[in-house]
Amino acid sequence: MKIAVIQGPNLNMLGIREQNVYGPMKLEDIHTQMKNVAEQNGFEIEFFQSNLEGEIVDRVQECMGDSDGIIINPAAYTHTSIAIRDAISAVKLPTIEVHISNIHAREEFRSKSLIAPVCSGQIVGMGAFSYHLAMMGMMQILNEVKAMREQQAAAQAQQMKQQA
Ligand code: DQA
Repeated sequence: MKIAVIQGPNLNMLGIREQNVYGPMKLEDIHTQMKNVAEQNGFEIEFFQSNLEGEIVDRVQECMGDSDGIIINPAAYTHTSIAIRDAISAVKLPTIEVHISNIHAREEFRSKSLIAPVCSGQIVGMGAFSYHLAMMGMMQILNEVKAMREQQAAAQAQQMKQQA
């Protein structure tokens, strides 16, 4: 099963921008850690970062039929983007929203997420470790989806055997 990781604007500046808020880790180091966890647990993973809202919408749409779940940090678009929210809602994939900082403890405009209501869950404020927690959550969800699909396939096979 495949997890798509989507990173919004300015996250390519991690390790440089506001280290007191976002910590010292670079985006590529976060991705290396996530890739290791995915591989150790038998999941495929793909990474994407863009500073452009439309490109993020396109990437979310591409996940349909390609990925099984999405981990997204929409960054500043969290607080403004109906377009990204609608794309997530449209693809109907389990989605976890991630924030490095605690958006509820900062400026008031950051405490509102337009994305959270269409997500399975939201992880905030744990620094770069937020991404690791999101991986744990997503792998749990996808393992449950896999088990459900296997159960359904077994029940169907049983039914066909009985009808034959
Ligand atoms: C952020 C929080 C957003 O408010 C901000 O615009 C970001 C990063 C975070 O990960 O803490 O760029 O999404």
